[in-house]
Amino acid sequence: MDKTILCIGAGYVGAPTMAVLADNCPEYRVIVVDINEQRIAAWNSDKLPIYEPGLDEVVKRNRNKNLFFSTDVQGGIKKAGIIFVSVNTPTKTSGRGAGKAANLQYWEQTARDIIEHSENDKIVIEKSTLPVRTAEAMHRILSANDKGLNFDIISNPEFMAEGTAVDDLQSPDRVLIGAMEDESGQRALRRIVAIYQHWIADNKIKTTNVWSSELSKLVANAMLAQRVSSINSISALCEKTDANILDVSDAIGMDSRIGAKFIKAGIGFGGSCFKKDILNLVYLCEYYGLPEVAAYWEQVVKINDYQGRRFVDNIVNRMFNNIAGKKIAVFGFAFKADTGDTRESPAITICKLLLEENAQLAIHDPQALHNAKLDLADSSGEISYCENPAEAATDAHAIVILTEWQQFKDYDYRQFYRAMKKPAFIFDGRNILDHQALYELGYNVFPLGQKARNHLDCHSY
Ligand code: NAD
Ligand code: UGA
Repeated sequence: MDKTILCIGAGYVGAPTMAVLADNCPEYRVIVVDINEQRIAAWNSDKLPIYEPGLDEVVKRNRNKNLFFSTDVQGGIKKAGIIFVSVNTPTKTSGRGAGKAANLQYWEQTARDIIEHSENDKIVIEKSTLPVRTAEAMHRILSANDKGLNFDIISNPEFMAEGTAVDDLQSPDRVLIGAMEDESGQRALRRIVAIYQHWIADNKIKTTNVWSSELSKLVANAMLAQRVSSINSISALCEKTDANILDVSDAIGMDSRIGAKFIKAGIGFGGSCFKKDILNLVYLCEYYGLPEVAAYWEQVVKINDYQGRRFVDNIVNRMFNNIAGKKIAVFGFAFKADTGDTRESPAITICKLLLEENAQLAIHDPQALHNAKLDLADSSGEISYCENPAEAATDAHAIVILTEWQQFKDYDYRQFYRAMKKPAFIFDGRNILDHQALYELGYNVFPLGQKARNHLDCHSY
C-alpha cells in the first residue's frame, strides 16, 4: 500500500506526470485511472492519445512494469496509499460564477469516490489546478466519513507546459508542495517530498502551506499570460509607429530583471489553462471583495481576445476589405507547437471569424487536424483539412500562420507562390518566417508588430 501510487485522471497532466514518476521511482507501483475508456485503451496501445515529444519512450519503457493504465477507479483507490487527483477543472458554464469560477464537479466526484472505496488512511494530492482554499472543502468532504479514516490533503500543482512536458517533468524549475501545518499534514508532506527526491534536488523542492501552494499555481499562470498580453498590446503600437516588436522584445528581454522568456508577440495565448486560471483568479478576487484586483487581471484576457480580432481585421483590410469566396491556407491549428492540443487555441476564433467573412479555409497542421475538425464541426462554411501544405496553398489567396511549428520555416514557399492566386499574401501571426525572402519571392508579407513588406503599398517596403 505504501508503495502504490494512484493517479485519478489520465489526461495531459496525469499520464505524463505519472510516467515520469514511475520512470524515476522503480520501487513504486504507479496506477493511472480514468473514467474515459477510450483514453485508457489508447494509453495501453501503440498510439498514445496525446502527442508530446519524448513521451512515447517513457511510457513504453515503464508500461506494465511499474506503470499501469486502467479504468478500475475503485480498485485503484483500494490499493493505493497515495492518490494524486488530476481531473479537469474547467470554467463553469452556468450557475453562480458562470464564465469565471472553476467547475469543481469532477474534482468533488473523485473525493466522493475516494471516501466510498477507501479502506485505510490516504494522502490525497491536488495535482489539478484549483481555486485557493479548495483543500478546505476537500478536507471537509473526506473527513465526513464514518469509517474512522484519516485523509491528508496535499497541494502539489503541476507547472509543466505542453510540448515540453517530459523535459519539464524530468527537470522542473521547482516542485511545489503545500501541506497542512498539523503533525499529520507534515508527516504526509515528508512522504511526498521523499518521492520527488528520487530525481529532484532539494533546493528545487519548495514546501509551503496548502493555501500558498494553491494560490501560487494560479498566480504563475496569470503572470505568464500577463507577459504575453503585455507584449501583444505593444505589438499593436509597433504596427502604428514602425517600431519592430522583435527588437523591442530583445531589447527589454536583455534586462535580466525582465528576462527573455514569454515576451514573444503572437496571435494570443491559447491552451486549456491560462484563460480559465486567470478567470478563476478574477472570480476569487470578486468573491473576496477586491474588484480593482479582479479588473486588473481580467484585462489580460481582454487584450488576448483583442489580439485575435485585430489579426483578422488586418487580414480583411489588407485583402481589399473582402475575403468572401477567397481560399485561405491556414498553417497551424494547435495552440502552440509540438502538441496536437487545440483547447482554447486562438486558431479556433480566428478561423470562425474568417468563416464569418465567407472565406474558404484550407487548414494544415502536423498534429492537430483531428482536433481541428472537432472544434469546427458546428461551423458553417467551406473548410478542408490538408495533411499536405502544398494542397492547402494551391489556389489560395493567402497563407496565414497560426502556430509556430518548426517545419513551417522549411516549406517551399517558392513552389507555394507559383500555385497561389495573385496578389499572394502571407500573414505571419507567429513571426517565424523570413519575411524579406518571402517579399522577394513576390509575396505581400504582414508580420505581427513589424512593418509590412508589401508590393501593393508605396508607404511600405
Ligand atoms: P484532461 O481533460 O486532459 O484530463 C482530465 C482527465 O480526468 C480526463 O481524461 C477525464 O476523463 C478524467 N476524469 C474526470 N473526472 C474523473 C473521475 N471522476 N474519475 C476518473 N477520471 C476522471 O485535463 P488536463 O489537461 O490533464 O488537466 C488536468 C488538471 O491539470 C487541470 O486542473 C488543469 O488546469 C491542470 N494543469 C494542466 C496542464 C496542461 O498543460 N494541460 C498543466 C498544469 C496543470
Ligand atoms: C502553461 C504554463 O506555461 C505552464 O507552466 C502551466 O503548467 C500550464 O500552462 C497549465 O497550467 O496548464 P501551456 O499552456 O501548456 O503551459 O503552454 P505555454 O508554453 O505556456 O503557452 C501558452 C500560450 O501562450 C500558447 O498559445 C503560446 O503560443 C503562447 N505564448 C507563449 C505566446 O504567445 N508568447 C510567448 O512568449 C509564450
